[in-house]
Amino acid sequence: MKTMNSPNTLFFSLFLLFVVVATGATNLINQTCKNSSKNDPNINYKFCVYALQSAPASRCANITRLGLMSITLIKHNVTDTRCTIRQLLQEKKKSMTALKDCLELYSDSLPTLREATTDYRAKRFVDANEKVSSVMEAATTCEQGFEDLGVSPLTQRNDRIFQLSAVALSIMNVLNFHSSE
Ligand SMILES: *[C@@H]1O[C@H](CO)[C@@H](O)[C@H](O)[C@H]1NC(C)=O
Ligand SMILES: *[C@@H]1O[C@H](CO)[C@@H](O)[C@H](O)[C@H]1NC(C)=O
Ligand SMILES: *[C@@H]1O[C@H](CO)[C@@H](O)[C@H](O)[C@H]1NC(C)=O
Ligand SMILES: *[C@@H]1O[C@H](CO)[C@@H](O)[C@H](O)[C@H]1NC(C)=O
Repeated sequence: MKTMNSPNTLFFSLFLLFVVVATGATNLINQTCKNSSKNDPNINYKFCVYALQSAPASRCANITRLGLMSITLIKHNVTDTRCTIRQLLQEKKKSMTALKDCLELYSDSLPTLREATTDYRAKRFVDANEKVSSVMEAATTCEQGFEDLGVSPLTQRNDRIFQLSAVALSIMNVLNFHSSE
């Protein structure tokens, strides 16, 4: 029979510890997303879990870090969407006006998101909230620009930016509530 301090037992214990820690952290993402989707009908639970899980090292992150990660995800998605819009504009097909409006909206969103990150790090959650809200509005306004045209080439992307913003706002509301206690 092996003694308790055999290497195998040690590795098994470490493995168990890892599983417990990893599960606990996944639970924070799930919990955060459950909270968010309950409080905001715009947030799809599965999308929220998928989005936060896709961020590097998010399984080890606390709630403060998860909020920052959600803002980073918005930034990356806005940057990627601007690239797509530029490509669509080069095709010179249709919806040029709507596309140009979206490009302008999202170009303004990037410095706004950088400011939001600064506010967030300084725990100025009310200011960060205002800035992320304006990016959420940009996504809505962009999508509305295609309404009369019948079809939008950016629906999925706008929706993603909208939902990621909603997740960030929801996390900030929790943090703001706790910091003002
Ligand atoms: C978290 O949610 C995901 C997706 O719904 C699920 O696959 C996973 O098992 C959940 N994890 C925990 C620890 O509840
Ligand atoms: C869930 O929401 C409640 C109330 O809004 C808050 O006190 C709690 O910290 C939240 N939990 C998470 C994991 O966001
Ligand atoms: C956009 O956000 C999603 C989460 O919804 C994420 O998985 C994806 O990596 C982001 N896209 C970019 C280009 O960063
Ligand atoms: C959350 O994690 C960050 C590092 O990612 C750390 O600096 C911070 O102190 C943690 N906050 C809490 C409340 O534990």
